[in-house]
Amino acid sequence: MSPSTTAPGVRQKDFRFRCIACGDLSDRASQDFRCAHCGDLLEIIYPQWKESAPKAENLKAVWRQRRLSQCAADLSGVWRFRDLLPALEASDGASDSDDQQIITLREGNAPLYDLPQCARIAGVPRLFAKHQGMNPTASFKDAGMTVAATFARLAGFRWVACASTGNTSASMAAYAARGGMRSLVLVPEGKISWSKLSQALDYGAVTCQLRTDFDGCLRLLQELVLRAPVYQLNSINPFRLEGQKTLAIELLEQLDWQVPDHIIVPGGNLGNSSAIGKALLEMRELGLISRLPKLSVIQAEGANALVRTLREAAGKRLVSVQAETRATAIRIGNPASWKKAAHVLDATGGACEQVTEIEIAQAKAEIGAEGIGCEPASAVTLAGLKKLVKQGFVKHEESVVLVLTGNLLKDPDYTIEFHRHELFKGTSGENAVALNPLRHPPIILDATLDAVIRTLEQAEKA
Ligand code: F0G
Repeated sequence: MSPSTTAPGVRQKDFRFRCIACGDLSDRASQDFRCAHCGDLLEIIYPQWKESAPKAENLKAVWRQRRLSQCAADLSGVWRFRDLLPALEASDGASDSDDQQIITLREGNAPLYDLPQCARIAGVPRLFAKHQGMNPTASFKDAGMTVAATFARLAGFRWVACASTGNTSASMAAYAARGGMRSLVLVPEGKISWSKLSQALDYGAVTCQLRTDFDGCLRLLQELVLRAPVYQLNSINPFRLEGQKTLAIELLEQLDWQVPDHIIVPGGNLGNSSAIGKALLEMRELGLISRLPKLSVIQAEGANALVRTLREAAGKRLVSVQAETRATAIRIGNPASWKKAAHVLDATGGACEQVTEIEIAQAKAEIGAEGIGCEPASAVTLAGLKKLVKQGFVKHEESVVLVLTGNLLKDPDYTIEFHRHELFKGTSGENAVALNPLRHPPIILDATLDAVIRTLEQAEKA
């Protein structure tokens, strides 16, 4: 078992690890993916871009061309952009060798939808949803997992592991299974949705429900990887963020390289916002885009560590919180990638906002009313947009992309409770009138034609 996170199969000269705090450069990372000198997080950089950066026009043409190819690396909406990812041994063109090395489920390729009704509600002319919930395991995690799982296998690991609020574990378990590796999942007991748990079970993970929260699971995992030969697949792992970068590249390609004014993303452990921000900065560096969209992060009020970190500590130190929200995917109080996220918000001029549980539920139902199903954590983006428009941060003529991170089917309990008027029972939100027109509870009837016709007529009148 290799104790290192990289292996001879990887052409290491293509990328290096850089500490985000002290700037230390290294060719190898230890199993906790922390800087050997100061213990902060690592990021992947591509030093050769300084001498021979790939040409923007060539890249755009190559990526377009690959859409016609049938090889696995090109069918993946992540590896199609492999020119901006850590290189595999033979990565020039779409070689057979790439196809054999990568673990892929044809991730990425996520649709960009327009949301005309939500645009009207929010007060902007053009609003799009980049729906990462249309990935193979129904969340954005797959884009990062294909890359990190591939590098785990290249490094010779038999076991991969993660702490999760549900989606990471579902995705990791799937990619481990596809790649012939075993997987270990640490999730907070009773705090993740059954759908996500069921995915990990079906994909064969050893699934531990720990009597703690997500932050407790992640702390334990960080200790575990230093003691046992397991490869950690949380977003602390910088290979994950390289894969997740492709969300932004694919988005810009879908927009024909016309830069939107704003991209809005939910914030939990803050890996995804960091990855999207890194992609935007790299795309500008390479001349793929000439200006940056503002990247904004929205959190649930009950899990607002980044909001408080920026407001109360000017982004200088993390203000942790005891997280509580029904958007369980982002029920995180001690986000690992807060420094990376604070950096990209600053670099792109984005905002950080928080939204209430009622605002989340309302936004989710409004997105649903357009035929687009997302999980509660994703809906914070629309709720946040409404706030940012009211504050004047998003102007009435500006274009906006919401990143929907997970599918509606990830948390059906939440949706059913919402429509049955049970979601906020016994809380101050119980009487929130704004939610009533959005509720469509199931109707139990006698099995007669009359009863159904009466219901139809009532619905038509309402
Ligand atoms: N949306 C969904 C649906 C998520 O599952 C997550 C995170 C986020 C947003 C937040 O993204 O952590 O990169 O800021 N889910 C992780 C998990 C923590 O374990 O599945 P982030």
